[in-house]
Amino acid sequence: MSGNNAAWFDRAKQVTPGGVNSPVRAFNGVGGVPLVVSGGKGDKVFSSDGRELTDYCCSWGAMILGHANDEITAAIAERAAKGTTFGIVTEDEVLFAERLCSLVPGMEKVRAVNSGTEAVMSAIRLARGVTDRDLIVKFDGCYHGHSDAMLVKSGSGVLTAGNNGEASSAGVPADFARHTVSLPYNDFEAVREFFAKRGKEIAAVIVEPAAGNMGLVTPKEGFLAELRELTRSVGALLICDEVINGFRFGLSTYSSLFANVEPDIVTLGKVIGGGLPLAAVGGKAMYMDRFAPEGPVYQAGTLSGNPLAVAAGLMTLEVLERDNPYPGMAAKCGRIAEGVNAIAQKHGIPLQVAYFGGVFTLFCSSETVADLAGAMRCDTSLYAKVFHGLYDRGIYTAPSQFECNFVSAAHTDADVDAFISAVGEVFQTMDR
Ligand SMILES: Cc1ncc(COP(=O)(O)O)c(C=O)c1O
Repeated sequence: MSGNNAAWFDRAKQVTPGGVNSPVRAFNGVGGVPLVVSGGKGDKVFSSDGRELTDYCCSWGAMILGHANDEITAAIAERAAKGTTFGIVTEDEVLFAERLCSLVPGMEKVRAVNSGTEAVMSAIRLARGVTDRDLIVKFDGCYHGHSDAMLVKSGSGVLTAGNNGEASSAGVPADFARHTVSLPYNDFEAVREFFAKRGKEIAAVIVEPAAGNMGLVTPKEGFLAELRELTRSVGALLICDEVINGFRFGLSTYSSLFANVEPDIVTLGKVIGGGLPLAAVGGKAMYMDRFAPEGPVYQAGTLSGNPLAVAAGLMTLEVLERDNPYPGMAAKCGRIAEGVNAIAQKHGIPLQVAYFGGVFTLFCSSETVADLAGAMRCDTSLYAKVFHGLYDRGIYTAPSQFECNFVSAAHTDADVDAFISAVGEVFQTMDR
C-alpha cells in the first residue's frame, strides 16, 4: 500500500468520524496531518509517505516487545491455523488465566474481555453488585475507558479535547454521572474528607496506581495504601486499573510491585494482549464468583478469551519472563529523561520529563506535575512545537501533552542518543 498521509487521511475522514477510530490519533492535541502507517517492525513504524519513525507511542503501551515481534507473530500464525474463535472454552484461555493468577497477588480468578473499557465496565458492575451500592469514586485526570460511569473528569483523549466538565462526554445521562465522584489524585485530605462524609455509600474506589492519562503522574508515598485502608474501613472495594501499569514495570502489577497494596479487583489490558484486543478483570474468588453464571452480575462476550489474542498474550508474558527487558527499558528511559532535562535547563525551556520504569511524559511545565491541576498548567502549544520538532526528525511521541510515551524492549541505546540529540536541535530552533 502506498500513498501519503494527507491523501489517506482525507479518505479516512470521508468514511470514519474525524478520520480516526480513537480521538487522540487525529492530532487535535498538536495540529497537523495525522500519521498514517502501513506497518511497523521493532521500534519503528512506517508512514504512508515512506518515512520510518522511531515509535514511542507503541500503540499506547501495548507493544512492549516492539512491532511485529517474531515470536509473537509466529504464535499468532500458529494459533490462526487451528481456528480463531469458537465461542467455546479453549485450553489456551485456561492457561492464560492460570498465568495471570500466578503472577498477580490476590488474583484468584480472572475473566478475559476484549478491551480495557470492557474490563473496567465489568469491574464497576461487579463492585456495585457485590456491595449493593451505586457510588463510584475515581480521580481527576485518570482515564478508565469510555463506559458511562467513567466519563467524569476523565483523562487521555477527553482532556486533549479540552473537556474537563463533570460528565466528560455528551450522551452520558446526568443521572448516571451523579453516581461517579471524581476527587483530586494524590490528595489525601480530599479523600479522607469524602470518606468521612459519604464512605458508607461507596461501592468502589477506582484508581490508576500510577496515573498515565494526564501524562505520567506517580502516586505519592502512601496514597494507594491510604485508599486500601479507607475502602476496607467502609466496606467498599478497591479497584486498581492496571490497564497501562500491568506488566509494564515488571512481571506483575504496579500495586503489588511498588505499593505493596492488594486491591479487591484488578483490571489489565494493553501489555497482556501482545498487541491484540485482550484485557482482563480479576480478583478475589469471593467477588469474581458473583459474575454470571455463578452469580447475579451479568457479563459476557462473543469473542472473550479469543484464542488469537490469548496466544499473543501468553507468548508476550513468556518472553517478558525469559528476557526480563524491564531494567533495560528503565535505563534507557532514565537516560532520555536526564538528557532531556539537562538540555531543557541549558536552553531555559520550561519542560521537564516525568518518568518511571520505561514510561515518560515530556511535561511542558517548570513544576513537577502531581495532579490534574498541575497537568493543566502545562504549555500545550510548547508541547505541540516539541512534538512536531521530533516528528520532523523521525521520532514519534504521543500526539498529546496528556499521554505517556513508552520505551519498549525493541528500543536501542542508539535510539536514546538520537532522541536526546533531536531534542537538543528542536530547542535550539526555538526563539524563546
Ligand atoms: C488506565 C486505563 N484504563 C482503561 C483504558 C481503556 O482501555 P481500552 O482503550 O482498551 O478500552 C485505558 C486506555 O488507555 C487506560 O489507560
